[in-house]
Amino acid sequence: MTSDFKVTPWETTGEVDYERLIKDFGVEKITDTLLKKIEKHAGELHYFLRRKIFFAHRDMNWLLEKYEKGEKFFLYTGRGPSGKTHLGHLVPYIFTKWIQDKFDVELYYQLTDDEKFLFKQDMSLEDTNSLAYENAKDFMALGFNPKKTHIIIDSEYSGKLYPQAIKVAKKLTFSTVKSVFGLNDSSNVGQIFFTTIQAVPAFLPSVLKGKNIPCLIPHAIDQDPHFRITRDILPKLGYYKPASIQSVFLPPLEGIAGKMSSSEGQAVYLTDSPNEVRKKIMKYAFSGGKDTVEEHRKKGGNTDIDISYQWLRFFEPDDRKLANIKEKYESGQMLTGEIKQILVDKINKFLEVLKKNREKAEKSVEKCILRD
Ligand code: TRP
Repeated sequence: MTSDFKVTPWETTGEVDYERLIKDFGVEKITDTLLKKIEKHAGELHYFLRRKIFFAHRDMNWLLEKYEKGEKFFLYTGRGPSGKTHLGHLVPYIFTKWIQDKFDVELYYQLTDDEKFLFKQDMSLEDTNSLAYENAKDFMALGFNPKKTHIIIDSEYSGKLYPQAIKVAKKLTFSTVKSVFGLNDSSNVGQIFFTTIQAVPAFLPSVLKGKNIPCLIPHAIDQDPHFRITRDILPKLGYYKPASIQSVFLPPLEGIAGKMSSSEGQAVYLTDSPNEVRKKIMKYAFSGGKDTVEEHRKKGGNTDIDISYQWLRFFEPDDRKLANIKEKYESGQMLTGEIKQILVDKINKFLEVLKKNREKAEKSVEKCILRD
């Protein structure tokens, strides 16, 4: 067993041990009792919950108790606009959309063009800002209710963000930022300040509406350090601690270590043509199959490491279909080329719908962007 992995908001490397992260980060595992509570309110369980793709949380029991007493929460999630949207980014979005639909709640989506400008040496603010607009359209293409969805582009909403961010900043020391994020004396001062901006949407709706509203943040586990800080500070400012729920990463095509990312290896983008998707999966998706057809037929494939199977866990919602694929692949009835083809078809159908929706979304985005 190797414990050689790293998960920070800016970098993920190695084979992630999620059990270890639960302990290291201090998040709670999602238990069956919690799943039952969610199911009671939602009427069903999203397959991301059934499959433990969302696997950990903070204060979900509290959030649901409030909900039961009639105190509705709002959702908050976000994206750092440093490139085109790829399939990995969609994991928290898909789940957030389900929560919005099931609980009929408001949603705030933060695009941190400031963050990416500060952390990416080679990007200008113009670059990250224009990517924010592209990313926002991709986000809306998932079908969020435009009447209940509010988009924050950091550099364009500073009039509302800044006065709140400095309240957070006053309670946050340099030494905490250094130890939580591994920043140091040579980090630029914008990087040191930045987490205060990511804290703000967790309580801004409470500020704007003049009453405390519970917040739920669905996000990939790497963002948790920000919200650990947010949760420490908000009660000191008189607001609720935000609840949060964490997902695992979509593994990279090349194999289960790390997360899919545009900066390393191959990523499947929302803009990829069906042919590009096919080529990437056929060429790069790591196979858990055996070296020869003969051996594969005899011994079967290993779904634990087979990326096509692992990706189907994220993109094939039907449990029965997924179980059937697993059985056939593990018994050697299904070959690597066949499981890859199933994945290609699944992803291409999914992207076709998104591309159509995106055209419509282009119009609704502007209406959803919050302006000072
Ligand atoms: N820092 C995040 C990123 O790099 C973007 C972000 C801002 C975010 N607010 C968030 C992500 C809330 C999840 C939830 O991608």
